[in-house]
Amino acid sequence: MTEYLVTECRTLDGAARDIVITDGEIGRIVPAGEADRDGVPADRRYDAAGRLVTPPLVEPHLHLDATGTAGDPRWNTSGTLAEGIEIWAEYKADISVDDIVERATRTVEWYAAHGVTRIRTHADTTDPSLTTVEALLELESAVADIVDLQVVAFPQDGILTDETHEDLLTDAVEMGADVIGAIPHNEHTREDGVESVQIACDLAERHDRPLDLHIDETDDPNSRFTEVLASEALKRGIGDRTTASHATALHSYNNAYAAKVVSLIADSGVSVVTNPPDNSVLQGSYDDYPRRRGHTRIDELREAGVTVGIGHDSVLDPWYHYGVADPLDAAFILVHYAHMAGHDDVAALWEMLTDANASVFGVTDYGLEEGNEGSLVVYDSPDAFNALRTRAPRTLVLRNGAPVARTEPSVTRVERDSGPHTVDFHR
Ligand code: FE2
Repeated sequence: MTEYLVTECRTLDGAARDIVITDGEIGRIVPAGEADRDGVPADRRYDAAGRLVTPPLVEPHLHLDATGTAGDPRWNTSGTLAEGIEIWAEYKADISVDDIVERATRTVEWYAAHGVTRIRTHADTTDPSLTTVEALLELESAVADIVDLQVVAFPQDGILTDETHEDLLTDAVEMGADVIGAIPHNEHTREDGVESVQIACDLAERHDRPLDLHIDETDDPNSRFTEVLASEALKRGIGDRTTASHATALHSYNNAYAAKVVSLIADSGVSVVTNPPDNSVLQGSYDDYPRRRGHTRIDELREAGVTVGIGHDSVLDPWYHYGVADPLDAAFILVHYAHMAGHDDVAALWEMLTDANASVFGVTDYGLEEGNEGSLVVYDSPDAFNALRTRAPRTLVLRNGAPVARTEPSVTRVERDSGPHTVDFHR
């Protein structure tokens, strides 16, 4: 029997706990101070010393094939989704497996350092060589020691925009892609967009895979494919395995139509993933003033009972030039961008980062409860609010009872007339 003991944890509900991990699972959770320290060797004990401890983080929406390419071959000067797609098309013209694996591995390690043990990445299937799919499937096993990767077969340029794209999408699934994607708002016509949703749903049913569609990622209020996806998911009974990513047009719908769509999404069981880093810079790009924020209707969706996760979407690529692969950065942007700065919103943001993202990924043994996976994250922060405020360093990331990352918080000194002293932003 192998044990790992984390003492003096402050959980999201504010409780003080010792957590005993046995054979990779949470064996016992007891009030802080009650676990037997002496029975566990020093190298398998960690004193959280009252710091915040959460379940591991999940990245539900990322593009690892494009990560690390920002500025290559050029920067996105218009700030639009369309120019990002053009730049990516130029880059992928001579892309290689080694190039993708090298860039993606670096980003995956950054994620692990930030407490992420699961990543859902999209792989562009519209390149005839399917190099991105091959590379990300290779990466799936190469990084299995630190994260679980899910690869979405994602037809970036549309399914019906070229006669080869549907076959390429199917080939990607047969190669082993875990999830089926589509991008109906990027098809040439409304009719093709609807058909692309049906093709994706058919493929998902045929291959018994979940769905995750880029959908209505536009400020155009006439882009109405989320209703098509939710309706298909409802009729087919696959809503609990379906994700609508972005759904930013929902921001610009009139309230009567938005209410209908929100209600339909709730009835269908479809989850939504919002991607604040990308959508905060891409949406509103065609606007004069006033300039729309363009994110999806997070408050209305959550009030209707819809699971809403938070993704980063891009790290250092043509759509979003910034990022260090930290889900707390994505949540921090959402604080401002979605008017979620109220103190009551702190719990909602953490619920989105943890339980909602894990639900999108399909995790069944998630959360700090006895019998679940023995994975957790320790933050250099005393509570949930301050961890978000400072995007606190993750001092320990534990996955199935084994450490996968540690961070030593930096030390800052101010030079006062009275003498130098250290300041601590985190506690
Ligand atoms: Fe995306």
